Amino acid sequence: MLRIAIPILVFGALFAASCSSDLPQSSLNPRSVEAGRIDQLWSLVLWISVAVFVVVETALVYAIVRFRKRPGDEDEPKQVHGNTRLEIAWTIVPALILAFVAVPTMVTLSELRSPAEGDFLRVEVIGHQWWWEFRYPDIIDSEGRPLTTANEMHIPAGMTTELQMTSVDVIHSFWVPSLSGKRDVVPGRETYLKITPDADVAGQMIPGQCAEYCGLAHADMRFRVYVDSDDTFDTWTAAQLEPSPIPSSDPAAAGYETFTQLCTTCHQANVVGPGGSSEVIGAALGPDLTHFGSRSTIGAGIEENTAEHLAEWIADPASVKPMTPELNDIGAGRILGMPDYGLDERQIAELVSLLEGWK
Ligand code: CUA
Repeated sequence: MLRIAIPILVFGALFAASCSSDLPQSSLNPRSVEAGRIDQLWSLVLWISVAVFVVVETALVYAIVRFRKRPGDEDEPKQVHGNTRLEIAWTIVPALILAFVAVPTMVTLSELRSPAEGDFLRVEVIGHQWWWEFRYPDIIDSEGRPLTTANEMHIPAGMTTELQMTSVDVIHSFWVPSLSGKRDVVPGRETYLKITPDADVAGQMIPGQCAEYCGLAHADMRFRVYVDSDDTFDTWTAAQLEPSPIPSSDPAAAGYETFTQLCTTCHQANVVGPGGSSEVIGAALGPDLTHFGSRSTIGAGIEENTAEHLAEWIADPASVKPMTPELNDIGAGRILGMPDYGLDERQIAELVSLLEGWK
């Protein structure tokens, strides 16, 4: 009894779970032109597969019932060999079906892979173990420095964004199922994706994550895509291009001291002192922290960005997210996680005050 009940229960639970309508990471919930094309192709192939399934299973069940062994039958049924007409039919029909499916598949592929045209936004996506860097090469500050952020990409709703993707270490895969197809992010190469969000997506956050196993924290290499209205996008870019202030009063000022002594070993920030001239400090091995306080998550999308979570993170990063900072080789420009610097509670609170203040 259990042998039958358990598989039925497991299958039933999986089936019921698939009926949820709250599916932020589903390619069956397309929110862009590109994801819509993929969804259409998927539906076409699905319905052809359903037709094939019904025909094959009907024939199978018919044969099982019609030709079952009845009382009085001989042990061995009549032996036959070959049926030329049938064999030609079941070779040609599947070949025709596959040829029929191949046409829209190739058309969709070439559409999705063609370069963006007309007015479009370029975003450079750089995969790191285990976080995402986003750079906007055409959105630069007065010093010519491109807008640089981490783990949260903002794009405007009304136009196409072309992602130019590469990796600094191993192969990652950029996947935000509701907005686009999945594409590998490969060191030493550039790959591309296009995203043209539907107009009604403006104001929404669409989650994505790395989809290629890339080491210990692969599952924690998430990101968020914020689809902004044009106004919101302009406001966001203007704010992100501004340097963050060097604080003049404690606790943030003390936090800044610690920041320049420890954090800048791996992290960069664009800061401006009371004198008014801005400068970029630190190394770009980890996420740029200039506007850390404006981000909604920490640790590449694994926790909400709150003072409490940030304090836990600084106190013992590897307890929040599996990482191997003991393998960091800063000289070679390779880091595999944030170390625990053994800071005391006061120092951590000062750093939290600094970073959360950098909106
Ligand atoms: Cu990066 Cu998995």
